[in-house]
Amino acid sequence: MAAAATTPTPQKNMAAWLTSPKSRPFAIADAPMPVPGPDEVVIRTRAVAVNPVDWFIQALGVIVPADGGYPAVLGCDLAGEVVSAGAHAASSFVPGDRVCGLAGAHGAGDFRSGAFQRYAKADRGLLAKISDSVSYTQAAVLPLGLSTAATALFQKDAMALPLPGTAAATTAMDNKDGAKKKVLLVWGGRTSVGSCGIQLAVAAGFDVAATASARNHEYCRSLCATWVFDYHDEGIEEEIVEALRGRECVGVFDAWSRGSVARCARILLKLEKNGSVSKGRKWVQTVLPGVAQVGEEVPEGVEVGYAYGSTLVRNEVGPAIWGKWVPEALASGALQCKPEPEVVAKGLEGIQTACDIGAMGWGTSSSPKLVVEII
Ligand SMILES: NC(=O)c1ccc[n+]([C@@H]2O[C@H](COP(=O)([O-])OP(=O)(O)OC[C@H]3O[C@@H](n4cnc5c(N)ncnc54)[C@H](OP(=O)(O)O)[C@@H]3O)[C@@H](O)[C@H]2O)c1
Repeated sequence: MAAAATTPTPQKNMAAWLTSPKSRPFAIADAPMPVPGPDEVVIRTRAVAVNPVDWFIQALGVIVPADGGYPAVLGCDLAGEVVSAGAHAASSFVPGDRVCGLAGAHGAGDFRSGAFQRYAKADRGLLAKISDSVSYTQAAVLPLGLSTAATALFQKDAMALPLPGTAAATTAMDNKDGAKKKVLLVWGGRTSVGSCGIQLAVAAGFDVAATASARNHEYCRSLCATWVFDYHDEGIEEEIVEALRGRECVGVFDAWSRGSVARCARILLKLEKNGSVSKGRKWVQTVLPGVAQVGEEVPEGVEVGYAYGSTLVRNEVGPAIWGKWVPEALASGALQCKPEPEVVAKGLEGIQTACDIGAMGWGTSSSPKLVVEII
């Protein structure tokens, strides 16, 4: 077993604290220096991105338990350099490595290990080295979107698609027998989760059909979607069914999942009538954690899948995606850091600004991914 790796003189840590349910602004104050567990890596945070879950927790007082969860440190997306690594992580990460990853394992009941601090820790299975050509602000847009999309597409209890780089994916990519690739429909191709979903599905050997506002059709094509449809069009269901005539659709990845699940299910039923459903499997994969969050009547005959963005750390998907695919795909350009980052502030104080901007009109405009540089 490798010895734990550390830098000699750790600096003082500071965090943006959520001191009690619905408190604002975040309180900037000292925080304990994180100590890596055997599978963990401590990172000097250089850039963080904000996500809907961050401003939902702050505004609504959800997820963090009032009893014992506060004061909390939120934040999922970080990029920075490695400071120290636990014994199991030290063979993969050494001090000074440039990395991006997913912090804040809320699911594991630790509410003080989020990204919104100068020194944060992440599990080695949710962390990747980034090439020199990728800046910290670019890399910070990826972690939660990528983890959620990978969980949804590849986990066995979700869509269970072949992982990029596996024989099944490679065969589909090579397309040697001249057969057409199978198709995945990604609803909400301009969301952070959908942007990663398109890129992961392409890497896994699928042709992708995506939906987005008309202004984002070129954006989705730049991520290698083959077809793009405007979800505002009344006739979108028929348009998709017509476009995919003669093709085999493996399901829908609904990367929005807020009022769109039934529509995705109807499309699958129509595709089935057209003979375009792969192996009769009609599966709408949501980005919601469970049935209670769906809030729509889903037509019978269609299965609905759920996903929680950090569960891939406990199975083969985390290492395959974070450990192998992300570093290679970032270096080769197969993975683009999208949506584009917009640095809206510098310093931990700026995280409140970023959350406030993000919460304003969320989902109604194609805002860039909001990023804060941590100085
Ligand atoms: N389960 C988990 O662990 C987990 C983790 C992260 C996120 N999520 C969920 O994933 C979803 C996406 O989150 P995100 O952070 O990726 O979102 P985001 O990047 O903030 O999404 C913004 C985009 O949503 C698109 N959009 C709005 N309404 C839509 C609709 N009716 N159909 C399709 N696209 C629509 C817009 O695209 P256009 O500009 O093209 O209109 C907009 O640009 C949310 O529901 C979020 O709560 C779940």
